[in-house]
Amino acid sequence: MKKIVIAIDGYSSCGKSTLAKQLAKELGYVYIDTGAMYRAVAYYADSCGYFDSNSLAVTELIKDLPKILISFRYNSSLEKSETILNGQNIEQHIRSIKISNYVSKIAQIKEVRLKLIELQRAMGKEKGIVMDGRDIGSVVFPDAELKLFMTASPEIRAQRRYDELVAKGEKVTFEEVFSNIILRDNDDTTRSENPLIKASDAVVIDNSELTQVEQFEITLKMALSKINEK
Ligand code: DC
Repeated sequence: MKKIVIAIDGYSSCGKSTLAKQLAKELGYVYIDTGAMYRAVAYYADSCGYFDSNSLAVTELIKDLPKILISFRYNSSLEKSETILNGQNIEQHIRSIKISNYVSKIAQIKEVRLKLIELQRAMGKEKGIVMDGRDIGSVVFPDAELKLFMTASPEIRAQRRYDELVAKGEKVTFEEVFSNIILRDNDDTTRSENPLIKASDAVVIDNSELTQVEQFEITLKMALSKINEK
């Protein structure tokens, strides 16, 4: 059967990774979370002390880029891929509010983007992947057979992220999470390097009023029709 690339872009916390994982599982494809790669670089910069009262030592970080090795390892007991930075499993550390606040600064650095895009293209060379992020359909895989652009209202996205963080035991308020979402929307859409834009051939999925099952069924149909296209 023909293998395709499924590119999922959109705003933060609108369920891109949930949908990407469901599609990948159903189709037997590999799921690649590119946000985790930017988060891994933010974690690296933080552990080197490169963030100082929210300003970042960009020159030092760029110098270190060849030393930053990012990969994913499948954890079969948890049935999910985990992010590995220089041999260390950092999955538990990269979703915190602290890293979420730092990561926008990392995503603005051209040299970081070039390195991660090269890695992402290599990961998708054989197709049969579902990749989510902000620039997958527009920059990383402009020829992807199926491009989805996901969105939902900021309030709904903040509530979903807040529930997730609280379930993990993080001490956050709804207001903190909401302002982080607004800040990241602004950073994602206004940065000069590969801002979040809808590719002209992407299909918009607004899931404010959709259940996870509904959005999965709609997009699976789209994927199967692309796979079966002559
Ligand atoms: O999807 P996420 O929230 O885990 O992404 C983390 C950050 O990385 C977010 O600020 C946007 C940025 N990002 C990006 O600029 N390009 C991508 N392809 C993926 C994520």
